[in-house]
Amino acid sequence: MLLALCAAQALAIDFTNSKWIWTNEGDANGNQPAGSRAFRREYNAPAGKSALSANVIITADNGYTLYLNGKQVGTGHNFHEAQAYCVRLAPSCNVFAVNATNDLTVRNPASLIATIEIKYTDGSVETVVTDSTWYTTTTVPAGFEQVGFDDSAWQAATVEGNYGVAPWGAVSIPSSSTPPPLSLTDANWIWTNEVNGGNAPIGTRAFRKTITLPAGQRATSATIYMAADNEFTLYVQGKTVGSGLNWQAAQKFVVDILPAREVTIAVFARNNDGPTSPAGLIAAVDLTTEDCECGSVVSLVTDGSWKYNLGTPIGFQQVWYNDSAWPVAVVEGKYGMQPWGNVAVPTAVSAPSGPIAGAPLA
Ligand SMILES: *[C@@H]1O[C@H](CO)[C@@H](O)[C@H](O)[C@H]1NC(C)=O
Ligand SMILES: *[C@@H]1O[C@H](CO)[C@@H](O)[C@H](O)[C@H]1NC(C)=O
Repeated sequence: MLLALCAAQALAIDFTNSKWIWTNEGDANGNQPAGSRAFRREYNAPAGKSALSANVIITADNGYTLYLNGKQVGTGHNFHEAQAYCVRLAPSCNVFAVNATNDLTVRNPASLIATIEIKYTDGSVETVVTDSTWYTTTTVPAGFEQVGFDDSAWQAATVEGNYGVAPWGAVSIPSSSTPPPLSLTDANWIWTNEVNGGNAPIGTRAFRKTITLPAGQRATSATIYMAADNEFTLYVQGKTVGSGLNWQAAQKFVVDILPAREVTIAVFARNNDGPTSPAGLIAAVDLTTEDCECGSVVSLVTDGSWKYNLGTPIGFQQVWYNDSAWPVAVVEGKYGMQPWGNVAVPTAVSAPSGPIAGAPLA
């Protein structure tokens, strides 16, 4: 029912006023060297206005990765077809960054086109298009997608033509946007304050995270990637969701929630190779809300805002459990760190599983 209502909100933007842009490296025939180029467009809301969300349509010849405020939004690799994204904005300053790639090894056409429709909290709308107000450089420097990156030495992008120009012609635009893919890349390995030289004592520990959505937003489902060294049982809203026994491969769970503004995630985690050894928990969570506006997916990852307990107190997985005295988790490092490396993420939802030994059945 809700999904049907949301899907009815068609995207109403196009490329009419957008330009195909690239660097100034083109030759007389408009051919560009092969390789990746970085683009940035900083956007500041006018005084007195607060940005809420944006609809973005984008494509590139040959491919792109789009970032907003340092976070990956999506990728595409076919200039005949744009992708559409719906993203929540920061109230005043937002930085859109693109790593665009010209694939062939010989000089050939290369270009980027985008339209960004910005919505303000007062209901007004403003459109930003690709043009010479974007900045570009002939490399893709590390950190180029971060808000604080200094692009003052970059050049203004070169306009190659209006939308419709050859060789790109018409680009198809999807009728609705795709949410950013769930990813562990921004997640952190967390554990307790017992970690010392990368090792923690054998035993079971409890972790909790309660997310309170903005007024008016209620979560209706959660999609979760989770892995622990060595094993875990996950609870959402006090109910057993499933377990994982292998830190080299995350589990993927999808769980429906009775519409709620507050969502409680609890984990029973065990470090079972001792007396001391590496111990960690990593997760990425997407909460789907019933709010049909842009940005109906709220994403979070394991970080220093999660809480832990050195035991697993009775009822710790319950929504009503009071964890205000629990300390905040110790962040051991980012996804990819040693000794865990790149934990595999499944495409399929994991089969249901019961609690691990000692974990409550709830
Ligand atoms: C830019 O994109 C190319 C092609 O996908 C990739 O090989 C390269 O690592 C990216 N660079 C950065 C800094 O993200
Ligand atoms: C939770 O526990 C703290 C003390 O640890 C207490 O101050 C607070 O009032 C409790 N909250 C509720 C809702 O019981």
